[in-house]
Amino acid sequence: MSKSGTLDLASGLGGKIDKEEVKSAVDEYEKYHGYYGGKEEARKSNYTDMVNKYYDLATSFYEYGWGESFHFAHRWNGESLRESIKRHEHFLALQLGLKPGMKVLDVGCGIGGPLREIARFSSTSVTGLNNNEYQITRGKELNRLAGVSGTCDFVKADFMKMPFVDNTFDAVYAIEATCHAPDPVGCYKEIYRVLKPGQCFAVYEWCITDHYDPNNATHKRIKDEIELGNGLPDIRSTRQCLQAVKDAGFEVVWDKDLAEDSPLPWYLPLDPSRFSLSSFRLTSVGRMVTRTMVKALEYVGLAPQGSQRVSNFLEKAAEGLVEGGKKEIFTPMYFFLARKPE
Ligand SMILES: C[S@@+](CC[C@H](N)C(=O)[O-])C[C@H]1O[C@@H](n2cnc3c(N)ncnc32)[C@H](O)[C@@H]1O
Repeated sequence: MSKSGTLDLASGLGGKIDKEEVKSAVDEYEKYHGYYGGKEEARKSNYTDMVNKYYDLATSFYEYGWGESFHFAHRWNGESLRESIKRHEHFLALQLGLKPGMKVLDVGCGIGGPLREIARFSSTSVTGLNNNEYQITRGKELNRLAGVSGTCDFVKADFMKMPFVDNTFDAVYAIEATCHAPDPVGCYKEIYRVLKPGQCFAVYEWCITDHYDPNNATHKRIKDEIELGNGLPDIRSTRQCLQAVKDAGFEVVWDKDLAEDSPLPWYLPLDPSRFSLSSFRLTSVGRMVTRTMVKALEYVGLAPQGSQRVSNFLEKAAEGLVEGGKKEIFTPMYFFLARKPE
């Protein structure tokens, strides 16, 4: 079971960062971003520090709001958010043709929600690769509680330099994670290297779409907000990602922005105009309650100094994501299936 109480949120805030250091970590994190005048080059050259600070600060909010899987989903009418998140994970397993006994890699696995679901759905063994120590600690505990420690494990490493020998895995997938890579070709090349020949890689990428205009100040502001609120060095276009996977050596089997035909928009859970009891914490009223609660917990010393600022930049992220989704300039589900040639 995911930690989902208010005090869990407060106690997990800051991850592995010393509680006294949370405020200065927030300062340093914010300075990386365009929204506060930071430069893309600094975010790329310091990506490990920037991304790890982000996940140390944000993970307990994610777990509190989303549960164990930290991603959006294609969603049908009548489907709950939770059902759609699982189906989005099953879709990857189906596309990869997972069969019992296969050895699978989850690149940028969070606290392992997708990994546990995919391993149980397909009877495979899944290794989660993640560079954030706090998330791995949480993931191991959740694997133990789910009873999947025998088939699922975690490796702490950078997906730009994976500690696996060539041709190790029968399948590789990444869910909303490789967007953190400072260079997509370098990251996809590592995936290519560790995948067995003839086998497949499937991904949901965060991308800007063809509707994005770099000369439009509103578009630029939305992109900056999404980068700030999500620990991203830069958001690449769908075309750049497609070219990058080809440059890494893959054959693309098919690709599609799944947001284009999602009957319910992926950003609906965060949309201020909508209310839901089942995912109340993600609604704008729910987020306001969380902000007020975090403020009170910080005031009485139960949450570290700087907690409210984390809550604020996550709020910016939510606003940017909803605006980016409504204007169709951004997608969190540009899907492609790619094969490593024999
Ligand atoms: C938005 S979360 C998605 C997590 C997971 N795929 C899910 O859907 O629940 C992105 C993940 O990528 C991981 N990540 C980011 N940069 C990484 C890197 N250089 N190496 C390994 N993992 C990384 C983060 O620590 C985080 O777990």
